[in-house]
Amino acid sequence: CGIIGMIANRPVAGHIVDALKRLEYRGYDSAGVATLDGGPAERRRAEGKLFNLEKGIDESPLGGAIGIGHTRWATHGAPTANNAHPHRAGRVSIVHNGIIENFQELAAELAASGIVPESETDTEIVALFFNKLLEDGLAPEAAMEKVAERVTGAYALVLMIDGEEDLLLCARRASPLAIGYGEGEMFIGSDALALAPFTRKISYLEDGDWALIRRSGAEIRDETGAKVERPIKLTEATGALIGKGNYRHFMEKEIHEQPEVMGYTLFHYYRSADRSIALPDLPFDPASLPKLTIVAAGTSFYAGMVAKYWFETLARIPVEIDIASEFRYRNPVMPEGGAALFISQSGESLDTLMALRHARDGGQHIVALVNQPESTIARESDVVLETLAGPEICVASTKAFTTQLVALLTLAVDFARRRGSASKEQLDAVMDSLVHLPAQIGEVLKETEKWLPVSHELSKVRDVLYLGRGLSYPIAMEGALKLKELSYIHAEGYAAGEMKHGPIALLEEGVPVIMVAPMDPWFEKVASNAMEVRARGGRVILLSDRSGINRLGDLATWSFELPECDPMVAPILYTIPVQLLSYFTAAEKGTDVDQPRNLAKSVTVE
Ligand code: G6P
Repeated sequence: CGIIGMIANRPVAGHIVDALKRLEYRGYDSAGVATLDGGPAERRRAEGKLFNLEKGIDESPLGGAIGIGHTRWATHGAPTANNAHPHRAGRVSIVHNGIIENFQELAAELAASGIVPESETDTEIVALFFNKLLEDGLAPEAAMEKVAERVTGAYALVLMIDGEEDLLLCARRASPLAIGYGEGEMFIGSDALALAPFTRKISYLEDGDWALIRRSGAEIRDETGAKVERPIKLTEATGALIGKGNYRHFMEKEIHEQPEVMGYTLFHYYRSADRSIALPDLPFDPASLPKLTIVAAGTSFYAGMVAKYWFETLARIPVEIDIASEFRYRNPVMPEGGAALFISQSGESLDTLMALRHARDGGQHIVALVNQPESTIARESDVVLETLAGPEICVASTKAFTTQLVALLTLAVDFARRRGSASKEQLDAVMDSLVHLPAQIGEVLKETEKWLPVSHELSKVRDVLYLGRGLSYPIAMEGALKLKELSYIHAEGYAAGEMKHGPIALLEEGVPVIMVAPMDPWFEKVASNAMEVRARGGRVILLSDRSGINRLGDLATWSFELPECDPMVAPILYTIPVQLLSYFTAAEKGTDVDQPRNLAKSVTVE
């Protein structure tokens, strides 16, 4: 969810809605705004996208120079207007992100005093609890201290009190919250991007912090209640509303940006003139690293799966990989001096952040690979590697993924050099191929019409299988994830060799099977799997290069030729066709490509 708070010298409602637009990537199933203008807070809330809220405010405007706003991704309670934030209880209005773990306990305490909530949300319980403290005679500051003490879970919240028109209260634990400093105006937001149009002067609250915000400034307390200062930085986040240009969807635009941003990311770390790699200083020596643990969620996890192959094959480092939501619950074995790498576009996925903290407790060196260098994950890491993908707005990740792969391969090559685990020739060939890749991808993206007929066919089917081996296996998984999240078609990604142990039962006349099959050491095995598909009436959609198509084209219903590249680099190149297939299939079906149902760009709940 996304949060905004604003105390200004001008009407705030319109500005709050604009800021929420920048936060829509955090969820978009309902939204609301509340302001104070002399009397009790007035609010407007709406189900669905922000334009519904905007319409409501146009029809019935909100005055006032202080307000709070929220865009929601439902956790407790359906995405209805009634469950939308801000919530109200007595004099208190509240917006909240995350989960209050002990809300039932608080609800039971309130029930004992005869206080009954109106909605099904944990948020309202906090508002009721806070209001009760005010009614008991506590000043806002003391009530906030008590709330910060009593409420457990992972959350960020902002509170506003009727009659207190120069005061916002906020608190954070795990979920991010930034404070913006203006000229006689103050702002609170889930991230710097949302606040960028108002001010570039930002400070981030730390875990357990809470604060009182007035027009004159912020007073921040840590979890012990002691007054603290948090450094004010000039954020790099740009205030410009990010546009789609001439593209139909952000996804299409972001797919097309890939050659450029992959180049930025590569040359941020690599100089082709002397083939040198310059990484930030590491707190460990890769030459003697006993183990690398890679943890991530969603698409970033598939980048990690590819990286596992690279670190093992090139750098000969034992790699363990896990999805973030599982990692800390299975007591993983972490050797002394080991390193853990967290991959996250947003740098805010709560599962990934929690896994990071678990690895830190396990004594691991923490490396983050993020697209948002000001994110929580970046700030809690020993070393931060950046992808220079620029803001990614479409919920489904494209350019963040391919830039993650570019950075990860560069890192693996650097480690391999320092460990002397692969020949110079092999590593040079990999980097040379990587340097050519943006231009090759640019070529692939020049002819996107050729993906339309097959996407048209895919849009009509119920099930799709994606198969790949070795480095292409994670790309098969990523292809299936993309197709299902964008087009709502059931898709499964499998290791091609595993098909015979289960998914082969799904094969019947006409089922499309996308074979991710570059000319690599696994090609012949994949060819046999393609024959098994064909023998059962499946329609093979073959992604390969010229020699692969010469070898297998006859049995494929559709073949797509990709440029030749080093097999180590192939997973990056072969990501492009799986992105295009899912994009065009979803566009053909007319689904909400940039904001598919039920998903959020940045998931800050566990
Ligand atoms: C959400 C998004 C995915 C993303 C995943 C991990 O589920 O919908 O597109 O891959 O989170 O996000 P992160 O920001 O940690 O890479």
